[in-house]
Amino acid sequence: MTKIFGHRGSAGTHPENTMISFEQAYKDGADGIELDVQLSKDGIPVVIHDEKVNRTTDSKGFVQDLTLRELKQLNAVHKFKKQYKHAEIPTLEEVLDWASRKQTIVNIELKNSILPYAGMEEKVLELVDKHKMAHLIIFSSFNHYSIARLNTLAPKIEKAVLYMEGIYKPWDYTKWVGGSGIHPHIKAATASIIHRSQQSGVPVRPFTVNDEKTMKRLFAEECAGFFTDYPKKAVQIKYQN
Ligand code: G3P
Ligand code: CA
Repeated sequence: MTKIFGHRGSAGTHPENTMISFEQAYKDGADGIELDVQLSKDGIPVVIHDEKVNRTTDSKGFVQDLTLRELKQLNAVHKFKKQYKHAEIPTLEEVLDWASRKQTIVNIELKNSILPYAGMEEKVLELVDKHKMAHLIIFSSFNHYSIARLNTLAPKIEKAVLYMEGIYKPWDYTKWVGGSGIHPHIKAATASIIHRSQQSGVPVRPFTVNDEKTMKRLFAEECAGFFTDYPKKAVQIKYQN
């Protein structure tokens, strides 16, 4: 059955990558959540999409120039100011602590294709181990060297290559770089790619799928999963028949 992943939680209706957003996706019946990780100045994995805090908080600057203490003082309600007064940037540890209690799947996207973030893989893995979450984690990254590194460090944990388009035989490619799945942009997720990958034992989970027609197509094609900003809507469509 196609799994529904709340993209940055329930980002279409709640402040992305915050606990409010993750809790909502869980309440709405999503099978899992997706989140983005950057490193703070003091090397703590924090959950925020961009390299800078500008778009999603009330401040400016690079995440890697701010300590966790400084990041915690920011307000990440972003475009949902009318509905919510305040939301913190969570640490990865806080989200894993919550997810381990709920036993929900977490796709951890390492945002290390623009900034290198030395040691990020080790730091993230340490937290996954601490919370005994290995069986519920899918790592992903646009940085495929990082997928290779994760595979060396944790060969048993699921990993997927993220990409926009143009990878030749992505079901083979992901195995070459140490991945086990593929997370293509929805435009690259044709019926043939989905079918051939899954025939090769490679699960496909496209991003970001927000329209009903595409959701229905992916359910019909028995795609392994997909990421959506509207998990509630996806759950309704999945179970409407
Ligand atoms: O992991 C799927 C998707 O989140 C990748 O793109 O930019 O939304 O992080 P982005
Ligand atoms: Ca992401």
